[in-house]
Amino acid sequence: MKITIVGAGYVGLVSGACFAEFGFDVTCVDKDTSKIDDLNQGKIPIYEPGLDSLVNQGIKAKRLTFTNNLKTAIKISDVVMIAVGTPTRRGDGHADLTYVYEAAKEIAESLDGYTVIVSKSTVPVGTSRKVAEIIKSTRPDLIEGTSFDVASNPEFLREGSAINDFMRPDRIVIGTNGDKAHKVLQKLYRPLYLIETPIVSTTPETAELIKYAANGFLAMKISFINQMADLCEKTGADVQILAKGIGLDKRIGGKFLHAGPGYGGSCFPKDTLALSQIAQQYKTRCSLIDEVIQYNDQRKLDMAKRIIQAVKNAGVQKKVAILGLTFKPNTDDLREAPSITIIPEILKNDIAVSIYDPLYYFGSERLKHATDYESELKKATFTKSAYDAVTDAGCVVILTEWNEFRALDIEKIYKLMDTSATPLFMDFRNIYRPEDMEAFKYYAIGKKQL
Ligand code: UDX
Repeated sequence: MKITIVGAGYVGLVSGACFAEFGFDVTCVDKDTSKIDDLNQGKIPIYEPGLDSLVNQGIKAKRLTFTNNLKTAIKISDVVMIAVGTPTRRGDGHADLTYVYEAAKEIAESLDGYTVIVSKSTVPVGTSRKVAEIIKSTRPDLIEGTSFDVASNPEFLREGSAINDFMRPDRIVIGTNGDKAHKVLQKLYRPLYLIETPIVSTTPETAELIKYAANGFLAMKISFINQMADLCEKTGADVQILAKGIGLDKRIGGKFLHAGPGYGGSCFPKDTLALSQIAQQYKTRCSLIDEVIQYNDQRKLDMAKRIIQAVKNAGVQKKVAILGLTFKPNTDDLREAPSITIIPEILKNDIAVSIYDPLYYFGSERLKHATDYESELKKATFTKSAYDAVTDAGCVVILTEWNEFRALDIEKIYKLMDTSATPLFMDFRNIYRPEDMEAFKYYAIGKKQL
């Protein structure tokens, strides 16, 4: 079976490399010529553990190719996946579908023989229908159900563990309008039958909404535990034990109950906004999600306030060391990361900031991905190690739980910091145990403060 993936971004590349690994012939198409040139030489434009070698394996086996030539790829494909971006439209929170519709038109122009067009991008309810209409209006000679079908097959890939999520998913969601397309998609995921992956077969509309509902629910779960964390701090309870206590109830589940500085990334903020917009459009109530959006934005600002207030109250050196910039570990993605809200707020209060992130330091190749945020971050100092960052600081803040922050030499950190007043250690990811941090004024999320 031959697959074309339109859009060699995060989802397109991971899916392409994984389908090639399964043994399919995959062509990834992108308009960006320099990206395609790089990919053909095995250079990966994003950081995702394991992706590099998987892409190179696919290229070597001649099962994975990259091209700018959409037409040739489409003609010979049984399945065409749309994996282009759906950013938040400026001003109104709706998902911007320009790239999806453009792709639909271009795909239609080259369709030859029965082809299933699969939407992998996260799109509002009804988009598959719209894609089918675009195809029909571009090519009135094509008959839906005979010459082509449009299906929805949302991805649930987490940055940093996307390959594992693809290879060992909790479920596959297949939204089709008929048996013909469903059979093609079943064939595509047959390699996962061995590990007995559940398949949810439904209509494109339900599949589209499943993706938003899943991300909305997870964002809500995180916001819930963050609110519980605040309550724990006030009452002297411990949020980690509380999370365990509720998470062991199978109806609740223990995952996504880590309290922190608020969720970020390319999906939750964008998809919660889009879900809220969809509900408004259909005049139904989705107030839980509205509250989650507002609360999460506010939480990031509150975290900044906590740092600023703590530095002022403790009378420590006005220099804060931030450990971790990315929205989560094992990614170089800064989109909607709490750091992007928190750092400028600290700087505005005349407190110096030094930053260390395993993937971001001046001179790093990866910094080029951070250009959007450069103006906000440039007043901070980037350092090359956690120890460099904490030197002479009065406060250290862990914002991202990178592995290398889990076993820092705490004595060394203390000695390097300014100790004219007891230094602050603000552990926003609850990596350390309060009893090991007695040298500091230690602040953990959702725990009694020392
Ligand atoms: C998410 C979804 O998990 C994935 O299924 C979807 O398809 C894309 O969006 P991703 O954004 O890569 O994946 O990361 P995820 O691991 O879900 O974390 C998102 C944010 O939530 C991060 O900022 C993370 O720090 C935060 N988070 C996550 C918490 O604060 N607490 C948790 O318990 C879990």
